[in-house]
Amino acid sequence: MSVIKVAILGFGTVGQGVYKTIQSHGEELTAVLGKKVEVAAVLIKNNQKEREISEEVLVTTNFGEILDLPQLDIVVEAIVDKEPTFTFLKKAIKHGCHIITANKEMFAHHGKELIELADENHVSIGFEATVAGGIPVIQTLRELLKINRVDQVQGILNGTSNFILTEMRVKKQSFAQSLLQAQLNGYAEADPTNDVEGYDAFYKTMILSRISFGEEPNWHAVEREGITSITSELIAAAEKFGLRFKHVASLTKAGNQIKASVKPVLVGQEHPFYHVEGVENAVNVHSDIVGRITLQGPGAGMFPTASAVIEDLVYVCQSHPAKRSYTGTPGGNIGQKNEDKKEYWLVQGLTK
Ligand code: HSE
Repeated sequence: MSVIKVAILGFGTVGQGVYKTIQSHGEELTAVLGKKVEVAAVLIKNNQKEREISEEVLVTTNFGEILDLPQLDIVVEAIVDKEPTFTFLKKAIKHGCHIITANKEMFAHHGKELIELADENHVSIGFEATVAGGIPVIQTLRELLKINRVDQVQGILNGTSNFILTEMRVKKQSFAQSLLQAQLNGYAEADPTNDVEGYDAFYKTMILSRISFGEEPNWHAVEREGITSITSELIAAAEKFGLRFKHVASLTKAGNQIKASVKPVLVGQEHPFYHVEGVENAVNVHSDIVGRITLQGPGAGMFPTASAVIEDLVYVCQSHPAKRSYTGTPGGNIGQKNEDKKEYWLVQGLTK
């Protein structure tokens, strides 16, 4: 039986989840793809650590060695930071490999360029794992957008922030304790500032904007605020009024303009995000034919993210070559808090 050879870049939470899932779901992958999926190589940073990787797999700190492997088909990228990741992925594409990435920051900055390069080289890119963990939001939007016109997307896009807000409310834990638990559970980024200050959700929002509208708002015009100003006292006071804090990303297209924000808001029981708790994410999309749909599920963690990567593995194998609209240019610096406006929005349901 012919083989699909995969290299995994990075062996942290996501890389390990992908490796284990390829082992545990080999039969299903073979049934769908008609070929055996095999992990041929893993790129690591530190070769002193013990890792549970089969001896047949090339484990290396040298990306060049991975590209030298004969007949490498897919590169799965699960490392952090924009570089050297972007450089690695460009090389992999030029080498003729499909690529799959879980790297929000890198993809928000360089997604357009990577997709153009993939088109030129007749390979595909999967980026389902960049947004909303295990929720198949990119695939859903791709299907929806074949005919529907989307005009609004709202989401809880950072599992760590939602987990912290939930723990602070339900268990009366401090912010620091709740963040530590999110880190222990493998939800948080290597630098959790990205989670709690809204950067991670911001990058995801820009990726959603491109896929939904084919373009992004000017980054600097997007109000971006994390959850660090939400104290236990604020959470308790809100609860007395039957309200909950949620960190919500919002994109609305009106005419040629896209309005976007990423910030904490107060929601009441009638809001679909009120019951989205813990590490869950949710994405609510409004489009002209279907109306409103909400997707909800685990937004971070080893296997939810691995699920998104594995779905992409099937997608890239079946959709060669890449062809999709992912246009527009990243819009400069990232937006900041609106310091003049200290009250939190009360969002009373999703309105059009
Ligand atoms: N740190 C991210 C989160 C991981 O908490 O949502 C998934 O993108």
